Amino acid sequence: MGIKGTTAAATLLAALAVLASACERNASEPSAPAATANEVNGLKTPAAFAAIEGDEERSAALFTELSKVMLHPRCANCHPREGGPTQGDDMHPHNPPAVRGFGMGAAGMECSSCHGPANVEFASMVGSIPGAEPWMLAPESMGWAGASPAELCAQIKDEDLNGGRTLDDLVFHNTEDHLVNWAWHPGEGRSPAPGDQETFGALTAAWAAAGGHCPAG
Ligand code: HEC
Ligand code: HEC
Repeated sequence: MGIKGTTAAATLLAALAVLASACERNASEPSAPAATANEVNGLKTPAAFAAIEGDEERSAALFTELSKVMLHPRCANCHPREGGPTQGDDMHPHNPPAVRGFGMGAAGMECSSCHGPANVEFASMVGSIPGAEPWMLAPESMGWAGASPAELCAQIKDEDLNGGRTLDDLVFHNTEDHLVNWAWHPGEGRSPAPGDQETFGALTAAWAAAGGHCPAG
């Protein structure tokens, strides 16, 4: 091959490389949310469990699925078992230090001194202060960060711990509560919980309708 041939081959190779990287870019671009009937943004819908015949088994499987949301850092950071709130996907202690107080924070340093009714983007860097009204810490009896799905299930069904809620009340809370809703709109710099609130509410309703059974373990 002469010099000309080499140049032509090099040009061809360069063209191929451009094509290949274009393909890669396409592949890594976020695709439309997977809107199959059985899954929404990484959370299975109740339809995915319809084939399980036994109520007890289906109910337990539905709970295991919905626990992926409840144990996600966007929820669990506000539902610690003890101590103050945590932050981020690694659930590190809240910085600046925030204490439990009466759920609203320490006197003079209430959660609302920093957290407003909506997310606020940082002016000087990427990220945001999360916000929703009223932004406060869940009481210790409703702390479940780090629990297993089985432990979480037993705890949130216990009316002595859950604020006197029946299964129907839990369905309503998960479907309608706006602090729950925040987990899918967590603001700049934070990943949302899997699925969406509608699917999460539907899973909770299907779990309760099948008897509110808990997974083993
Ligand atoms: C002095 C200001 C301040 C106070 C008081 C405060 N926070 Fe925060 N909080 C922040 C800031 C700033 C962030 C965001 C940090 C970041 O993303 O880098 C944050 C983040 C959080 C997060 C993390 C959300 C997530 O999923 O990552 C939770 C939960 C939280 N705060 C709860 C509370 C609660 C509950 C209280 C009251 C007991 C409280 N905070 C009091 C400033 C404050
Ligand atoms: C900003 C903090 C905050 C966030 C974020 C948050 N919660 Fe809560 N949660 C609370 C507080 C405060 C209560 C107590 C309010 C009450 O009893 O009415 C509570 C109560 C609950 C309860 C009532 C029963 C019980 O035993 O816990 C459920 C269920 C619940 N939250 C689910 C969730 C889920 C699911 C998410 C995420 C999708 C979430 N929460 C995110 C603060 C939060």
